[in-house]
Amino acid sequence: MIRMENICKIYDRGRVRAVDKVNVTIAPGTYTAILGASGSGKSTLMHLIGLLDRPTSGEYWLCGQPTSDLSARNRAALSRAHIGFVFQSFSLVPGMDALENAALPLAFRGVSREKRLDCAADALCMVGLGARLHHTPEMLSGGQQQRVAIARALCTNPDLLLADEPTGNLDPRAAREILDLFDRLHADGRTIVWITHDQQAAKRAERRILMHEGKLCPEQENQR
Ligand SMILES: Nc1ncnc2c1ncn2[C@@H]1O[C@H](COP(=O)(O)OP(=O)(O)O)[C@@H](O)[C@H]1O
Ligand SMILES: [Mg+2]
Repeated sequence: MIRMENICKIYDRGRVRAVDKVNVTIAPGTYTAILGASGSGKSTLMHLIGLLDRPTSGEYWLCGQPTSDLSARNRAALSRAHIGFVFQSFSLVPGMDALENAALPLAFRGVSREKRLDCAADALCMVGLGARLHHTPEMLSGGQQQRVAIARALCTNPDLLLADEPTGNLDPRAAREILDLFDRLHADGRTIVWITHDQQAAKRAERRILMHEGKLCPEQENQR
């Protein structure tokens, strides 16, 4: 699914090596946590994986496709075709109900409105919000809003779900519910890359990769 060779992202004319010679392979269907302290480069790495940003050097293959020579347009298309994103802030549109929020990524794909809302309803059922289709974000708890954001990421049926600190704004119970949902999505065969600074919570993933000062450290796998 993901293969990176010697990927670097350098800011400030070499002063900040946010991602420093990263080599990593992530197989389809796996559930990986990328762990590390604040400032260790996790979000930068996630932006590179998601093709939201270009590396300074190195090569990155997404689903077998080398990405370094792609145009901006083809990068965006490749990202849209394979990846669903979840961030710490839910970024739902206020005043728009769960169904319309979850359907948004399909709006730019020439899918009919009826089909868009169908897919969004399926995704909302998948995240346990089948009874909240017409609630706006203002009527939903933080955990429910994050589940709408996850439904929005899932409505395009992505191969890879990329989540950057998805439980960072949630209380412990809502956070557990999101991680229970990730367990179910993984059991259904989705590939998940989950970024977190919570070492304890990260034990729930099947593989953990520790990031430190832009580098990936030797792995501590399968210590659930
Ligand atoms: N656009 C940018 N310009 C300059 N430095 C950046 C930029 N984005 C991130 N950094 C720096 O890169 C390092 C890694 O940041 P980040 O990937 O956000 O870490 P994390 O997500 O692990 O907290 C930090 O030192 C940060 O200040
Ligand atoms: Mg971050």
